[in-house]
Amino acid sequence: MDTSEQSSEELILALLADGSPEFTSGEALSDKLGLSRAAVWKNVESLRRKGYRIEAMPAKGYRLAEIPDRLTPLELTPLLQTQEIGRVLHYREELESTNELAFQLAVEGAAHGEVVIADRQTRGKGRRGRGWSSPPNLNLYCSIVLRPELPPQRSPEITLVAAVALAQSLNELDAPARIKWPNDLQVEGRKVAGILTELSADPDQIHFAILGLGINLNGGRSDFPPELQASATSVSEVIGHRISRAPFAALLWKHLESWLRTHAERGFPPVRAAWKRAAATLGKKVRIQEEGRLIEGTAVDIDDSGALLVKNARGQIERVVAGDLEQAP
Ligand code: BTN
Repeated sequence: MDTSEQSSEELILALLADGSPEFTSGEALSDKLGLSRAAVWKNVESLRRKGYRIEAMPAKGYRLAEIPDRLTPLELTPLLQTQEIGRVLHYREELESTNELAFQLAVEGAAHGEVVIADRQTRGKGRRGRGWSSPPNLNLYCSIVLRPELPPQRSPEITLVAAVALAQSLNELDAPARIKWPNDLQVEGRKVAGILTELSADPDQIHFAILGLGINLNGGRSDFPPELQASATSVSEVIGHRISRAPFAALLWKHLESWLRTHAERGFPPVRAAWKRAAATLGKKVRIQEEGRLIEGTAVDIDDSGALLVKNARGQIERVVAGDLEQAP
């Protein structure tokens, strides 16, 4: 389901969401939408059949009491607080990988901010050729087309921008998130979210970047493959209640858009400072495999391009651009 135009149902949901927690009168809805009262009622009934709980009170109007936990434009669009991200949404119930479809759409000209989102992925991609476990009904899997004005050497900054926005969003759910360099989101030392950025670029300009975000919101231990059960967790396991996916997506995209704007206007320094505040890695003993080279020491900083600075046993600082990092607890 692709949309950029809003249906009457979406507009009613947007008005009810705006008015929430108060009631919105049927008259106000019919005036604002240019629909008869009977047409408003028909749309409300249709929304109820889709799982929305909409209360109706004589003389007061309608109130949105509950939205179903789905990720179609009908649920997402009324919640958006962004100018660009998610304003064009490509929802699929199932995809091999949202990054794959987003890449294809970007090649065909998809604009900055278009989002591909799926309820489940059958071949979700992780970093360094790994997979990403993507069961249905539980989590968030989305890929965002970005068209930043940056040379490709600065592309790691985009991933760090996303890590900062994710950490901020998770913290607002009361899940104390920390970033493990470069871009794993951890809560209580276990991974809750990952970022996979893929690029199309020539030597001096990025054509587009696909920012793929996978967040374990609601899975229990048994929803993870056995090999991840010790190292992964979900937000709901930590905070003890289920997270509605659409409001979380809207929150995340709001923070992401704001951090992308900060990055475009002020460059990397404010992102670096926020990344450092949320970092789990700094001050820790680390081991990093970087293309055949093993680096061991204490992580001391990230530099002004996002590379990790590690002080080795001889007291020298080694600069690490990419790699698989193990860190002491
Ligand atoms: C990692 O290995 O930490 C990165 C995981 C990224 C997973 C997300 S889920 C949505 C998007 N589509 C994919 O196939 N991968 C990313």
